[in-house]
Amino acid sequence: MIRRYSFGTPCDTGAVVLSLPEEKGEMPYFDVRRDGERVLFRTQLTEEEIVFGLGENVRGINKRGHRYRSWNSDDFNHTEDRQSIYASHNLLVFFRPGRLFGVYFDDPGLVIYDLGDARRDTAEIVSENGDLNVYLLEGADLKEIAKLFRGLTGPSYLPPEWAFGYIQSRWGYASEREVRAVAEEHRKRHIPLDGICMDIDYMEGYRNFTWKKDAFPDLKAFVRSMKEEHIRLIPIIDAGIKTEKGYAPYDSGKEGGFFCKKADGTDFVAAVWPGRCCFPDFLREDARKWFGDLYRPLLEAGIEGFWNDMNEPALFYSDETLAQAFALAESLKGKELDLSENWAIKDAFNAVANNPEDYRRFYHVMDGKNIRHDKVHNLYGAGMTRASADGIRRFRPGERYLLFSRSSFVGAHRDGGVWQGDNFSWWSHLKMAMQMLPNMNLCGFLFCGCDLGGFGCSTTEDLLERFLQLGVFTPLMRNHSALHTREQEIYRFSIWETMRDTVTVRYALLPYLYSEYMKAALTDGMLFRPLAFDYPEDRRAVRTEDQLMLGGECMIAPVYEQNAEGRYVYLPEDMLMIRFRSALDYDLIPLEKGDHYISLSLGEFPLFVRNGHAVPLCRGGENVDEIKTDHLKMIGKVENESIYDLYRDDGISEKVGMNGNVTRIRVGKQELVSDIELKPDR
Ligand code: GLC
Repeated sequence: MIRRYSFGTPCDTGAVVLSLPEEKGEMPYFDVRRDGERVLFRTQLTEEEIVFGLGENVRGINKRGHRYRSWNSDDFNHTEDRQSIYASHNLLVFFRPGRLFGVYFDDPGLVIYDLGDARRDTAEIVSENGDLNVYLLEGADLKEIAKLFRGLTGPSYLPPEWAFGYIQSRWGYASEREVRAVAEEHRKRHIPLDGICMDIDYMEGYRNFTWKKDAFPDLKAFVRSMKEEHIRLIPIIDAGIKTEKGYAPYDSGKEGGFFCKKADGTDFVAAVWPGRCCFPDFLREDARKWFGDLYRPLLEAGIEGFWNDMNEPALFYSDETLAQAFALAESLKGKELDLSENWAIKDAFNAVANNPEDYRRFYHVMDGKNIRHDKVHNLYGAGMTRASADGIRRFRPGERYLLFSRSSFVGAHRDGGVWQGDNFSWWSHLKMAMQMLPNMNLCGFLFCGCDLGGFGCSTTEDLLERFLQLGVFTPLMRNHSALHTREQEIYRFSIWETMRDTVTVRYALLPYLYSEYMKAALTDGMLFRPLAFDYPEDRRAVRTEDQLMLGGECMIAPVYEQNAEGRYVYLPEDMLMIRFRSALDYDLIPLEKGDHYISLSLGEFPLFVRNGHAVPLCRGGENVDEIKTDHLKMIGKVENESIYDLYRDDGISEKVGMNGNVTRIRVGKQELVSDIELKPDR
């Protein structure tokens, strides 16, 4: 059951697709109080209470014990003390014996969540604007709450099948020659590859929708020839449009009046990569249409996928914030700084970026009214996703596209995926990447992944290998790193063969992973779940923070510690461990319910299959087009009979459903493996 409670005058955030009558009575579970404009929601937490939700954010799977904020931020320092990163996914699920409910705060502005931070026994959620709809979700179990939420907010995005291939990315690839070299190094060494991302350096002076004519003299021919090698190019697009007369997107945006304006009616200007930029008003339908059409030249060149960035929006500085910092510097010039002046000057220059004042300086037009940006800040990235998704759909009707964004809000899960932004090459970020996955899935974002190897600072061989072992299972499997860090392509490392073998497992599992993704998307389920969703009565399972359920049959338990040669795993039931070294080289070890120490040397990683189930493994390939599902090995310990519903389709059509696309695979009593022949899928 879902109930809607309304506060103040909420706007349509685009998150919710169900229209529900407003409840007039008091809202259960919470003490609700107004304090000026703010609305406060307070509930008691018992010692056993667990809180899931908040999608992409820092800290563990159980969010209890910290303070979070919904305020989309370009902050690359994802440390434990942070309260928000790039997304606002305002769903919480409270879970304890005898009490289970979800609550979604459909609020486009700042929301603060104290989940047992000030007091361990109290959760308090504060909407700063006080204009919002709150949806209460009640169901029999955690999975039902997740399903209800997807019913409320709409189905998850369906990517094309090729998007499940391995993608290589790096900030710095600046020419066709460099991109070709990356492709060749992979192909030469038989490292599977389906995509290469083009970061900002492909553009002419970082201007969106341009490309360097000397470095990419015939983009269309280049895209075609890479596609012949089964490699797609995936360019980046940033939110800001360079303020420059004669640059077509600026001229057309200016002419249409599509940029966000200040109170005096002039365009708001702040710097991003290309220098001073204007910011499309993604909250306006006509501006979205204009921006979506700007993708055309790239689509005409044959591009089928994009990543959208800097769309919180990130602001490096505005003339106003810069002037304040310089004024302070000027006033202190020549002085011997005391401690507070020393700090003040550092703070002033740090504050030029993403300054709260700047977010109050410009306006959007919603329903014909001017709304100050900070009131609806968290909708900006989702608006950009919508603009580009619609633009791509207009150009390639009926076909799926790859799209992933840095910033997001619930609702954007219908149009694209997300990546987890600028992590570091830290072991703690490998763990955090894993812990974000189930909460992102809970909020509808099924297509996601992190920068494998870590984006900021230099990775090490073992860290990249362990990152790849997690990436084998994440829908977006992309190795990405920052300019000036150690080069991070697999072939740069002495253990590249080990890394390649790890990637081969992705391709052997691809029929299963694709099938589980599509089934989750088409039936409003989750691909990754906290163990609590499947074993709610098991006190150990519900508190497990470093293992995840994957699809209907499996559990994963990645190694995330430096120099580890294995790890402890808790099995909530008997399971078969597949200990992978490559697509063709693995051990099958049945294990009983309980605690186990699993030895996992650097090139080894486990997948656990629930007893009574069997999962398909194919021979793999070097790209997704090579994957065949006519000969499969069904792996699992089956006592009587197991059934696996394998979802297959053409990998690209937009209109797909479960009907007609599911092949039922029956496996009779078997020890561990059986070979299966199916009708070819293409
Ligand atoms: C941002 C993105 C990162 C990208 C960089 C340059 O930091 O998050 O992925 O490489 O900008 O475009």
